[in-house]
Amino acid sequence: MNNNPLKIMETVLRDGHQSLAATRMRTSDMIPILREMDNVGYHALEVWGGATFDACLRFLDEDPWERLRNIKKYVKKTPLQMLLRGQNILGYNHYADDVVREFVFRSVDNGIDIIRVFDALNDPRNLECAMKATKDAGAHAQGALVYTISPYHKTSDFVHFAQDLIDMGADSICIKDMAGLLSPYAAYDLVKTLKEKTSVPIEVHSHCTSAMASMTYIKAIEAGADIIDTAISPFSGSTSQPATEPFVYSFAGQPRDTGIDLEKLHTLADYFRIVKSDLTTTFNLNTNIPVDPKVLTFQIPGGMLSNLLHQMKEQGAENKYPELLKEMPKVRAELGYPPLVTPTSQIVGSMAVLNVTLGRYKMISKEVKDLVRGKYGRTPGPIDPAIKKMIIGNEEPINHRPADDIPPQMEKMAQDLAATGYPEATTEDILSYALFPEIALAYFGKHRCENPICPNNCK
Ligand code: CO
Repeated sequence: MNNNPLKIMETVLRDGHQSLAATRMRTSDMIPILREMDNVGYHALEVWGGATFDACLRFLDEDPWERLRNIKKYVKKTPLQMLLRGQNILGYNHYADDVVREFVFRSVDNGIDIIRVFDALNDPRNLECAMKATKDAGAHAQGALVYTISPYHKTSDFVHFAQDLIDMGADSICIKDMAGLLSPYAAYDLVKTLKEKTSVPIEVHSHCTSAMASMTYIKAIEAGADIIDTAISPFSGSTSQPATEPFVYSFAGQPRDTGIDLEKLHTLADYFRIVKSDLTTTFNLNTNIPVDPKVLTFQIPGGMLSNLLHQMKEQGAENKYPELLKEMPKVRAELGYPPLVTPTSQIVGSMAVLNVTLGRYKMISKEVKDLVRGKYGRTPGPIDPAIKKMIIGNEEPINHRPADDIPPQMEKMAQDLAATGYPEATTEDILSYALFPEIALAYFGKHRCENPICPNNCK
């Protein structure tokens, strides 16, 4: 029986606006409220990682490292948390160990206290390097179980994976339910079993996409979950997390009282309501995303359904959309039941689109070949032998840790960047360049030039 105060991880500065405002919240929107947020008594603030790094450089003309340092200036008491995609860091393919390690060290050095590490396939070998680096850097290493439903994702499979992560040094475990598929009773069973079999704190991260998440959290808390991820009300609901306030209110005076003052949350909510409406106008966003319980049947994350429909329309094949919805789960099963999260969601989704528009497996992307080759790691279930043969013939798939095949990259990146005109680049700049070369160079072009009378006034 868990009688500790329920802890709250606030996601508005990362997942909240990534889910509802296309990751467009700017550092200047955050700074005026950070001191107040620091005084709430949150377990942690999620502020970095996921899509925020890319979005800073690509859309907001911001240096993501500078954002992190800025936030740290105002948040003195509350730990800062980030989301890291294991060996993919924050990009879409595998990087060499030296890049992963340096990235983790620089993140911690610039202000991160807790790193949540996950891998799209739940292959422990893909988390190994990031977890070890996090421990070595002195930060809290949280291992995440990417939640999905398949014959290869039973409670026992997740517990087994959690134990692998704890063996690697995980200080806590997160159940990461990016698509909102975790049902209240499944959550109860999974959390209860994890609490029985392990001794680390258990955190639950879900999305309201299917409209189940609040019920799921309550059952998870009853089963002994230590921490839940919520977003302050204006950035909660639909494809984001459940709202923070109702949990604080519901547990007030109960054995697991959060100790958080609801009044303080109202102040935050008033502030972020204005931020949201400002972002909606400035970036012409649709922040009014409806819940879609269809995700429960198709297991396709909400945002992805609309992307796929858009792709089909562009190819003039929207009449095949109902076929696509049937094709997705079929492709997913044939490719070994990967959870649908970046980057596997895109890989499986595009394959299904090609299958219904051009004929099954008539055209195969490099990413699908790589997935079948084992370049992303071990798929949860076996790949259909006939499909495997069709895609890679008699080629022997790799069965070692994929990153073992990638030679060190940091020095080469530094040299490339020096050759492009940035010999004085910081390690942070080199890492930005390693992850997103084109957009990093475009940013440096504007902000790192040596011109004393720079028209962009970058000095
Ligand atoms: Co999320």
